[in-house]
Amino acid sequence: MQARAPLMIEHRLIERMLSVVKGVLSRIESEHEVDPVFVDTAVDFIRTYADRTHHGKEEDILFRKLNDKPLADEDRRVMQELIEEHLFGRKTTKALVEANARYRNGDQNALAGIADKLQTLVEFYPKHIEKEDKLFFPSSRNYFSEEEDQAMLAEFWEFDRKMIHEKYKSVVERFEGRE
Ligand SMILES: [Fe+2]
Ligand SMILES: [Fe+2]
Repeated sequence: MQARAPLMIEHRLIERMLSVVKGVLSRIESEHEVDPVFVDTAVDFIRTYADRTHHGKEEDILFRKLNDKPLADEDRRVMQELIEEHLFGRKTTKALVEANARYRNGDQNALAGIADKLQTLVEFYPKHIEKEDKLFFPSSRNYFSEEEDQAMLAEFWEFDRKMIHEKYKSVVERFEGRE
């Protein structure tokens, strides 16, 4: 298996979540309401899975290793774009969390903000994924030997192994902080 395989498998699950979000968006349009718990769950998926676990492997392992390579200008430019898109995703998610909090507190106007941020995510994310799957992953593969690629795959597994522990430690710590 190549190192990029788990990243591409993760893209497929992110796409499935985006389809779920699309369904919720049409219901927001027809019913003029949303379940704030769904938004919480979508935010948790984005933050824990798409950002921490998935972008974490991209940024902390793949991009970091590429930084030590003599990257072609075009590849470096695309990598920078991808990093900026990850930042944009985080900013959008933060705004979604804020709109959801307002909505939960009874602000009906916040529904439009929730729909707007969800719409932004479903529009922007597939393009980001396509850029990685079709353009950036294939060209970045050329900078690594087979051995380096396999070592990176091993690092990916090790990164993933820690995630569930990090996630639930943070859940407990969040509750402890409230007491
Ligand atoms: Fe990415
Ligand atoms: Fe990705």
